[in-house]
Amino acid sequence: MKAIQATSFGGPDVLSLVLPDTPLPGPGTVLIQVAAAGAGTVDVLIRKGLYPGGINPGFIPGMEVAGTVIATGDQVAEDWIGKRVYAMTMLGGYATHIVVPQEALVPLPGNLSFEVAVGLGINALVAQYSLQRAALAPGDALLVRGAGGGIGSMLVQLALAGGYRVTATGTTPAKRAALERIGVGSFFSVTTPEAAGQAFKAIIDPVAGPDLDRYVAQLADNGTYVLNGAAAGFPPDNFGLSWLSRFQRSLTLACFSLDAIPPQEARASLQQLFRQAEQGQLQAFIGATFALEDAAEAHRVLESGSVFGKIVLQV
Ligand SMILES: NC(=O)c1ccc[n+]([C@@H]2O[C@H](COP(=O)([O-])OP(=O)(O)OC[C@H]3O[C@@H](n4cnc5c(N)ncnc54)[C@H](OP(=O)(O)O)[C@@H]3O)[C@@H](O)[C@H]2O)c1
Repeated sequence: MKAIQATSFGGPDVLSLVLPDTPLPGPGTVLIQVAAAGAGTVDVLIRKGLYPGGINPGFIPGMEVAGTVIATGDQVAEDWIGKRVYAMTMLGGYATHIVVPQEALVPLPGNLSFEVAVGLGINALVAQYSLQRAALAPGDALLVRGAGGGIGSMLVQLALAGGYRVTATGTTPAKRAALERIGVGSFFSVTTPEAAGQAFKAIIDPVAGPDLDRYVAQLADNGTYVLNGAAAGFPPDNFGLSWLSRFQRSLTLACFSLDAIPPQEARASLQQLFRQAEQGQLQAFIGATFALEDAAEAHRVLESGSVFGKIVLQV
């Protein structure tokens, strides 16, 4: 099989093509012939060695794949063979083949392409759960940071469908135009004088980084800040203290990580999101596709911040 391995932590050049033996599925697992793999900022953080969890160099990146089951291990019904599926994998997705536990499989609806499945996948799930954590009512004002990214573009879409007043941040003119086409009418940056100041009932933030506190300042009293990523780096060390300095404003900080969602629940939510996409209620924004062999270039483009939506590797 072909796979992309990170030989050490570092820049995109640490990603190189390797040709390991194709694995065989063991008990309770299946072998997927991968057709599409998602590439996201989380892969970049892992590649740089910045992701917690004890991952060592020599790993194959790739958190999510879509493809076809081509072999089953013991204790797995053979009728999985030939089925089109999606799976969250944490690692190993940048490959032509991957073995995953049967419990990871989410069958794909008939007319949903592999690329669209990974275009939705983790991003749509994180967006959906993050919106739930924001606990908004229709008409409430929501600020979405990183709105032009994979998670952000899903968030914006689901939030508009939920009837919230959506404002987006920090986008390039091209991303802004794409967001306007989805229906975003309001844009915002804490670095410009028109910064609203305590205007938002909720802020959902996959970006964090050094500006985090300036965004927290934009929450209305009793507002909720949902932190679901760190595309611009982890929050500053003094974040806890600055949060407490706003004690009298009764703000809520809600962290969201998919790791805390029971796998069975995540699979059911994904199936529902795939159905919504099949029925045209949800769209995957695939900003760029690359061949598996060009994973390093995909990471360069990912890190440039120039692409709207999700980057997909075609395998
Ligand atoms: N909570 C979870 O379970 C979960 C799951 C998967 C991933 N994540 C995390 O979520 C974050 C976003 O992932 P993603 O795949 O959506 O990434 P992405 O597609 O690269 O989008 C991130 C967006 O953040 C903004 N951004 C990036 N770097 C920035 C910087 N230095 N300063 C300001 N804004 C910056 C950009 O948006 P604009 O250009 O629009 O400003 C960019 O499009 C990552 O940290 C990832 O690890 C969390």
